[in-house]
Amino acid sequence: AAWEKQVRLSSTPRRTNGFSVLVTGAAGFVGSHCSLALKKRGDGVLGLDNFNNYYDPSLKRARQNLLSKHQVFIVEGDLNDGPLLTKLFDVVPFTHVLHLAAQAGVRYAMQNPQSYISSNIAGFVNLLEVAKAANPQPSIVWASSSSVYGLNTENPFSERDRTDQPASLYAATKKAGEEIAHTYNHIYGLSLTGLRFFTVYGPWGRPDMAYFFFTKDILQGKSIDIYKTHDQKEVARDFTYIDDVVKGCLGALDTAEKSTGSGGKKKGAAQLRVYNLGNTSPVPVGRLVSILEGLLSTKAKKHVITMPRNGDVPFTHANVTLAFKDFGYKPTTDLSTGLRKFVKWYISYYGIQSKTRKGSQATGESG
Ligand code: NAD
Ligand code: UGA
Repeated sequence: AAWEKQVRLSSTPRRTNGFSVLVTGAAGFVGSHCSLALKKRGDGVLGLDNFNNYYDPSLKRARQNLLSKHQVFIVEGDLNDGPLLTKLFDVVPFTHVLHLAAQAGVRYAMQNPQSYISSNIAGFVNLLEVAKAANPQPSIVWASSSSVYGLNTENPFSERDRTDQPASLYAATKKAGEEIAHTYNHIYGLSLTGLRFFTVYGPWGRPDMAYFFFTKDILQGKSIDIYKTHDQKEVARDFTYIDDVVKGCLGALDTAEKSTGSGGKKKGAAQLRVYNLGNTSPVPVGRLVSILEGLLSTKAKKHVITMPRNGDVPFTHANVTLAFKDFGYKPTTDLSTGLRKFVKWYISYYGIQSKTRKGSQATGESG
């Protein structure tokens, strides 16, 4: 009963016509930022996360603490727990689901392929099964990935480009998610919007991502690997700042149509959309490293190597015309500005003495 009360309180909107949003992966990087942004504008938010240990779970707990200060409650549970999901939808008439829970990371798929199948395919299907049976049926916005473009050589990538050459199992599961969404839209009238994020970075980010562990390794004086392609070109990413991605997620939620339901009048006519959410200006990894060196006032020990065949793609570059047209998405943060904000957060979160601010030697993590 206390649990139900918390669930209801967290998910009740505080503005007129506010949403009631289930955010999966709410203790994650993108999920925690989106949950806060929704709550701050008066929507009701309930989080779901399994707090797995793919990366340091204490960072997920710290995000959870931050959210709880803003009255966002996270239910600890797995996407594959059908009875739990059904119970949540029984208690709360969610208007929307922002589905961000997934096994992320491209290279880890070579170590633990099953975790991608379990969360990104089975878990997604389980969520859709529960959502289709819910009354009302929520509109669903979910995270796809720029990785679906795989070895596509069109530059920039637009939503109509081919996505039949995934370079990693991660990418293949994200592509599968888009196809699964098509079937649930077609048969059950669920409104579904897929967002292809492009290498998102920022405060409270993911320790498994290059910008994050490069910062750590540079501060600790460890050498970092910088990948080059097999034809010795620089690898580039369309690094996208978290606040821009959050605006895109909210824009997609705001313009999502209602699900029509399989028995509805507009049977089969519910919305199915896919958008790129990138920064539109790819930056070589070498440039990312030199920005970090400047911000940390420390030279990196660089080790330039030919990219192992590990799921990485040579470049990403988003065309965001469609997201701009449909919900005004316009990225505004360049990589230097965004990394400055990340480094500031990193230094304060890990309690590191900043060379630049205090004039003393960086000491590495305090634990
Ligand atoms: P993240 O790992 O920080 O967040 C995902 C959260 O989901 C984690 O807190 C994890 O504990 C939770 N989770 C994983 N599997 C679960 C399951 N089976 N049940 C319940 N919870 C589960 O990752 P993120 O960077 O915030 O990514 C959010 C989404 O965006 C993911 O779907 C990811 O694939 C996608 N994406 C991210 C990026 C990026 O650069 N960050 C780029 C493209 C796509
Ligand atoms: C990121 C996320 O990790 C994925 O979850 C997400 O789906 C993907 O973005 C996406 O946009 O779809 P990635 O771009 O590979 O994947 O991000 P990082 O792992 O942070 O790598 C960034 C760049 O650094 C890549 O070009 C990679 O090749 C390079 N890199 C990585 C190195 O040069 N050295 C390393 O040791 C690691």
